[in-house]
Amino acid sequence: MSSKPIVFSAIQPSGNLTIGNYIGTMRHWSKMQSNYECLYCVADLHALTTIQNYSFLKTRTLDALSFYLACGVDPEKSIVFIQSHVHQHSQLSWILNCFARFSELLRMTQFKVKGTQGEKYIPKTNLGLFNYPILMASDILLYQTNVVPVGYDQKQHIELTRTIADRFNSIYGDVFALPTPIINQYGSKIMALLEPKKKMSKSDINKNNVIFLLDDISSVVSKINKSVTDSDRPSAIYYDIKNKPGISNLLEIFSAISNKDVHVLSKELQGVMYTEFKKIVSDAVSKFLHKLQRRYTDYRCDETLLKKIAYEGSMKAQLKAETTLKKIYSELNFFHLFK
Ligand code: TYM
Repeated sequence: MSSKPIVFSAIQPSGNLTIGNYIGTMRHWSKMQSNYECLYCVADLHALTTIQNYSFLKTRTLDALSFYLACGVDPEKSIVFIQSHVHQHSQLSWILNCFARFSELLRMTQFKVKGTQGEKYIPKTNLGLFNYPILMASDILLYQTNVVPVGYDQKQHIELTRTIADRFNSIYGDVFALPTPIINQYGSKIMALLEPKKKMSKSDINKNNVIFLLDDISSVVSKINKSVTDSDRPSAIYYDIKNKPGISNLLEIFSAISNKDVHVLSKELQGVMYTEFKKIVSDAVSKFLHKLQRRYTDYRCDETLLKKIAYEGSMKAQLKAETTLKKIYSELNFFHLFK
């Protein structure tokens, strides 16, 4: 048995992946492969809560898988799989539903944003959107996960996962490891380009708010050119999320892409005009995306390989998931026909 700590992370293929997904989580994945035992999952069951047209689901799932590989996830080192291929996630989800409280789920910010308008619930909101954090808890707890690299928006869900695990453990002993989120100080909440006080999101209806990983380079340049800065004159480039959200956001994007500290960059960019700064950022992002898209295309063209990787990943994940699920079934004293 491996003694390395266990990492789990996932993205839901509910839309095209964004640079926010990359910076918030995917960029860390390949680096973690040497010191951790890693599981990276495409959370297609989660996508059912928001997706409008299921015919895109398969395409988007394979797109996401190709991006995982293009970002350096190596199926020889990590377990890469599709959530719906490992039935234990749904099985554990039901059990954990019975250990979570309605009031806890009502407090989830993401549900409040997506499932309510002001004080009122949107009548057609599906129940999956409400108990979605329970499925997420199952994803994490099934593998005895120690750390979960995520963006800031998932922090509350990981805290709930810990609460549920702790509650279960307090009754049945140490069944689950308690996971800790890894949330970087910079880059864990990339903001919308035109509205830098709101998060960049796959589902934004204004596409100029979002840099998609599959955007063509000319549109990336145009989106960054249009991005909101501020009215400070002369131009002043430094990190101040409260008073300069647009500039700080561009700095966080640039920092993640160039692997340079935000404050080092601020110093280097002293005296640079905003138009020139945008050009520097868009050059760096374009170069980065160009390379990433080339690697992505190589994988995306080979569906046979993608299916093989997903199949092998699901077999490995199922073995691990079954070990935890068996332990839980036995603690809960379910009746079994076969020993
Ligand atoms: P999702 O698909 O919304 O986002 C995937 C990951 O990307 C991060 N992220 C961002 N980070 C920085 N800036 C942004 N603008 C930004 N937008 C998204 C998210 O924080 C996340 O880390 N429920 C999850 C998927 C999931 C999961 C899990 C994650 C399912 N099971 C278990 C971790 C562990 C979700 O919808 O993420």
